[in-house]
Parts: sequence; structure tokens; C-alpha cells
Amino acid sequence: MVAPAKDALGCRDCHAAEGRLEKVTGIYIPGRASDHAGWLDTAGWTLAALTLLGTLVHGFGRIVLRKRK
Ligand code: HEC
Repeated sequence: MVAPAKDALGCRDCHAAEGRLEKVTGIYIPGRASDHAGWLDTAGWTLAALTLLGTLVHGFGRIVLRKRK
């Protein structure tokens, strides 16, 4: 039997901190608090921020130097 639509689970029911599968050990579930690697999240967001910063600086430089022939 398939559960009715109103009882359907959303992704975040399982893929979240305090999700319904939080206590299941031995598997990796993306989004779960116990599966986070804090340093890796920090490293990833740092790289993303640096990429954005580099793009903005480069674009700004091109705008500023555009008039020089
Ligand atoms: C009933 C709980 C549950 C729900 C609801 C759920 N997931 Fe998952 N999901 C899991 C579990 C458990 C795993 C890990 C499976 C494994 O390691 O074999 C997983 C794994 C994944 C993965 C990683 C797959 C991989 O190859 O490692 C992705 C991406 C994912 N889910 C996306 C979603 C999306 C998008 C939704 C909503 C449409 C969703 N999940 C809804 C329980 C759930």
C-alpha cells in the first residue's frame, strides 16, 4: 500500500539536523547533523567566497581600465 499524499515525506524530513533518521548509525545521509564535517563546510564556503571576491575584483578592474586603450 502506498501512503496518501498528505502523509508523504519531504526531503528535509530525513535530510536535516534532527531529521527522522538522525539516530540511524552506519550510513551517510546528506544534510544530517552527525554527518557534517565542519572544517570541510568552512573550507568549501571559504573557496566559494574567494571565488566570488576574485570575480568581483576582476570585473571591477575591467570596468575601471576599460577606457585606457
Ligand atoms: C525516508 C527518509 C528520506 C527521505 C524522505 C529522502 N531521503 Fe534521501 N536519503 C535517505 C537515506 C537513508 C540516504 C542514504 C542512502 C544510502 O546511503 O544508501 C539518502 C541519500 C540521499 C542522497 C545521496 C545519494 C547517494 O548516492 O549517496 C541524495 C542526493 C538524496 N538522498 C536526496 C534526496 C532528495 C532530493 C529527497 C526528496 C525528494 C530525499 N532524498 C528524500 C533518506 C531519505
